[in-house]
Amino acid sequence: MKAVILAGGTGTRLKPLTFWTNKHLLPVGRYPMICFGVAKLREAGIRDLVIVTGRSALGGFADVLGSGRDWGVSIVYRVQEEAGGIAQALDLARPIIGTGEKFAVLLGDNLFEPSLRPFVEQFEQQKDGAMVVLKQVKDPRRYGVPKLDAATGKIEFIEEKPVNPLSSYCVTGLYFYPSDVFSIIDQVKPSERGEMEITDVNNIFAREGRLQAKVLDGWWTDAGTFESLEEAGRKLKGFLP
Ligand code: DAU
Repeated sequence: MKAVILAGGTGTRLKPLTFWTNKHLLPVGRYPMICFGVAKLREAGIRDLVIVTGRSALGGFADVLGSGRDWGVSIVYRVQEEAGGIAQALDLARPIIGTGEKFAVLLGDNLFEPSLRPFVEQFEQQKDGAMVVLKQVKDPRRYGVPKLDAATGKIEFIEEKPVNPLSSYCVTGLYFYPSDVFSIIDQVKPSERGEMEITDVNNIFAREGRLQAKVLDGWWTDAGTFESLEEAGRKLKGFLP
């Protein structure tokens, strides 16, 4: 299975650091953030990676990761010219994913302690549709929050950053898609904030009854704020990918 790591965007919540550096090149413990996603996917058995990032950051990614050889993976880079949203970044992987091919997507600022291998294996067995990974959190308002159908375990819909969350779960930045995700992206229009939202893509799968959910046990964070970046640094300090 291939994986796409999305590492573009503007990193607004980490300004001023992100005036000069792409968020995913900032240090987490002893390594740039991007290394953790690469190492985690590799550990889960994924060796073919697509990394999407912005034009000015590309050289930094090439410095750190190169072809991927030293990390036991093979990397193709794609450039997102403007930060137009997660779904727009994902669409840049379209020429690399074959028809009928299933693949994983990881948001580059998402850091996981447990192995991702069980999720990869579960999605390999899944007959149709997409799969997202959920985590119970204290403050779901920062995230996409699912409404779950208790009988089927499927997601009915997801609300992005709700004021009154419908559950204590959030959708993490680990997604699994069939290749028809690209025709679903074609149906999505930019949101009020002008971005192509991954939640809109996932909600089309949900509406079709094609969105499975799995729950993550163990530590996870999205390192998009100073607080979570510092927590990640402490947690992963001794971690050698
Ligand atoms: O971390 C999980 C959350 O990530 C989910 O719960 C939300 O549903 C999902 O929308 C997303 O929310 P964020 O507000 O945290 O997304 P953010 O804009 O911080 O972008 C997340 C990652 O996606 C980040 O590592 C960079 C990448 N990205 C983002 C944008 C907007 C791109 O590669 N290109 C982009 O244009």
